[in-house]
Amino acid sequence: MVFSKLNFTVKKIILSSEIEELSPEELDHVEQTLLSRAQSVAKMAYSPYSDFQVGAAVLLENGEVFQSSNQENVSFPAGSCAERLVLGYAGANYPNSAPVMLAIVAKRAADENWADVSPCGICRQTINEAEKRFGKSVTVLILTATGNILRVRGISPLLPLKFNDFFTNS
Ligand code: THU
Repeated sequence: MVFSKLNFTVKKIILSSEIEELSPEELDHVEQTLLSRAQSVAKMAYSPYSDFQVGAAVLLENGEVFQSSNQENVSFPAGSCAERLVLGYAGANYPNSAPVMLAIVAKRAADENWADVSPCGICRQTINEAEKRFGKSVTVLILTATGNILRVRGISPLLPLKFNDFFTNS
């Protein structure tokens, strides 16, 4: 059998995301406070199965700040990420105040140092829903293992080609 190589030109769509990297000193006071709230709560995580302690702190438009750690379950899918817990709490108790900033940090229980972390797909989708619900973008701050902070303005850079880019009823 003879196979011939056909040279189709495949059209490519290149997606790009803008993410800022800042040193701690470059953050403003509000951003620093939010990160430190996330760091405090991370240490109280209930994560006996992963030993990964995540902290998330949210700033609402009305100035309120709330935080949560991850809460695991022996039946793994019943556990919840820190981001979803804090956004759920904020949405349930402050249905009229948009979340405007979310700080995320993580460490391994046995380590002193902070670890790299990045929100999971379901949490990205949850942040997207908060943006949709309130019509405001959520700035995401992520502490990295180097000590620098990633700042992402809105969920789009973390969730390219998201469902609502195509779903016309959204
Ligand atoms: N986790 C979070 O809470 N947030 C993230 O952004 C990443 C993962 C939790 C889920 C689970 O309890 C543990 O970290 C390990 O995956």
